[in-house]
Amino acid sequence: MHQVIDGKKISEQIQSEIAAEVAVIKSSGGKVPHLAAVLVGNDGASETYVNGKVKACEKVGFKSSLHRMENSVSENDLLKKISDLNNDADIDGFIVQLPLPKHINVPKITEAVSPAKDVDGFHPVNTGRMLQNIPCYLPATPYGIMLLLERYKIETSGMHCVVLGRSNIVGLPVSVLLERNTYPGNCTVTVCHSKTKNIPEITQTADILITAIGKPEFVTADMVKNGAVVIDVGITRIKSSETKSGYRLIGDVKFDDVAPKCSYITPVPGGVGPMTITALLKNTLAASRKEIYK
Ligand code: GUN
Repeated sequence: MHQVIDGKKISEQIQSEIAAEVAVIKSSGGKVPHLAAVLVGNDGASETYVNGKVKACEKVGFKSSLHRMENSVSENDLLKKISDLNNDADIDGFIVQLPLPKHINVPKITEAVSPAKDVDGFHPVNTGRMLQNIPCYLPATPYGIMLLLERYKIETSGMHCVVLGRSNIVGLPVSVLLERNTYPGNCTVTVCHSKTKNIPEITQTADILITAIGKPEFVTADMVKNGAVVIDVGITRIKSSETKSGYRLIGDVKFDDVAPKCSYITPVPGGVGPMTITALLKNTLAASRKEIYK
């Protein structure tokens, strides 16, 4: 029997824990955590994600601010905005929503954010700290996956974990986190990418399979071992006349096909997705408490 991992439920649980902590901060006259978001242009998906982040802040009692910039903004003006946010003592953490327009150099922007306020965990200082298991902000999606494994008490030690994808924001960090000497962790990790030969042969040996490639229903039942834990990070937006928003989300895993073979599996939507905002809120709370950078 497989168990569907309920990311929405775990996310709500953790958000109510955060709200309770904010209530304590407020009642003792402490500073309310403040998350800022920079949104460049008006990409539909980015608007949705940023709105979700702002709403989640309201829900847990954080302050939030949204800093909109034109799609044509110069790199210098964006760097100036980042410098202002770095120097604004009321802002505990901030994010610059990706993707950015083509004329902007993303690594330059990422490096301009003060590591102490980098609640996205994208700055190379936070990446380096993550590699060496030094306290840091973890990127939201990998952090959300760790929280799901932990809350469902899924055994990871000694397991073979196969990660599909090597992106800076999911595949790479999740492979590092599952290899570290921690719980969740202590896996033997194999990373597959676009040049990997025989992907199905490798995925068939996975005790834990994490997919982050953005190829709808790429993973079929024949690629999965009996009893595997499958974590689907893929979210491809497909136009649909059946939903209010006009689109629906498809994962990297052919769910109905694969689920019967699994011990645990995350659905799309309602699996990893809801956890990413919750992980960002946890980082923001840690930032406001100066838990990582004193
Ligand atoms: N775009 C896709 N995922 C993310 C994320 O976690 N943070 C930011 N800032 N942009 C994203």
